[in-house]
Amino acid sequence: MNEKKLIEKAFEAMEYAYVPYSHFRVGACVLTSDGNYLPGANIENAAYGSTMCAERNAVFGAYCRGYRKNEIQALAIVCEGKRPAAPCGSCRQVLSELLDPKTPIYLSNGEITIEKTIAELLPMSFGEEDLKEEQGD
Ligand code: THU
Repeated sequence: MNEKKLIEKAFEAMEYAYVPYSHFRVGACVLTSDGNYLPGANIENAAYGSTMCAERNAVFGAYCRGYRKNEIQALAIVCEGKRPAAPCGSCRQVLSELLDPKTPIYLSNGEITIEKTIAELLPMSFGEEDLKEEQGD
């Protein structure tokens, strides 16, 4: 797995961020198991809560093309801040649903790169197991 290329692709995706409010650009890229690079960038909104983060756009884009967690090799999330951007709480919840717990996630600002998994970023997550019926009441 060429993490350097994946991070470069995420920086290319960052160019398309739409950030008139925060001016904070974030890029993301999913690498699929058949070798496709699927980009995402943060897209903001005047109704701030309607903003969508870069990593969710990238992973939703992969799912919209029919890829599922077993076909996602890796995810990169990049920004131009002093330190790599860590995914927000909503993104962690979405990634815990849509990525395999062991899939590598590279967080980078171009200087520092940190490798994590969603299991590390969101321990004790709420998921489909919690909605199964046999739990008593
Ligand atoms: N943002 C992302 O796109 N991903 C992250 O991991 C952190 C935050 C965006 C949301 C918003 O457009 C801007 O960064 C500032 O919060």
